[in-house]
Amino acid sequence: MQNVVATIPDLEREAEAFMARLAPEANRATLITLSGELGAGKTSFTKALAKAYGVSESVTSPTFVLEKVYALPAATGFAHLIHIDAYRLKNGEELKVLGWVEIMKEKGNLILLEWPENVKDALPAPSVAIRLEPHADGSRTITYA
Ligand SMILES: Nc1ncnc2c1ncn2[C@@H]1O[C@H](COP(=O)(O)OP(=O)(O)OP(=O)(O)O)[C@@H](O)[C@H]1O
Ligand SMILES: [Mg+2]
Repeated sequence: MQNVVATIPDLEREAEAFMARLAPEANRATLITLSGELGAGKTSFTKALAKAYGVSESVTSPTFVLEKVYALPAATGFAHLIHIDAYRLKNGEELKVLGWVEIMKEKGNLILLEWPENVKDALPAPSVAIRLEPHADGSRTITYA
């Protein structure tokens, strides 16, 4: 599935539609990978999705802290939204500091992971792989696989 979004309000509607069709994993965390070049909109998608899930605190890029955890309302079916940015990591081994194996076991976790290519040796098949492609006019093509 592929959609084009031109503005942040567009992206927020896109994230709401994504939330509505997302099927949580039954026996492990739900892992969503976000691929795309620098500035493609990976963090923006995560912000829009967090808003859709009812996160009221501001969602900022975890580039320097590696991981940010947000509590989700029980009605969402998840307990936590975990936003990870692997931009500065060299391999999956470096995810261990987060307790990655334990994080992935917890079905209450909704994980959004930027730069999955950097840590692919530690990743199971994602629940959804998202690719963002920016265009010259500022719009983005979002592909779900
Ligand atoms: N769908 C969109 N429509 C319009 N502007 C967007 C869209 N997505 C992102 N932007 C804008 O693009 C800029 C970069 O986006 P963002 O920080 O989300 O990219 P990123 O992929 O997370 O980058 P990085 O690789 O540095 O982490 C932001 O200023 C954001 O407002
Ligand atoms: Mg980012």
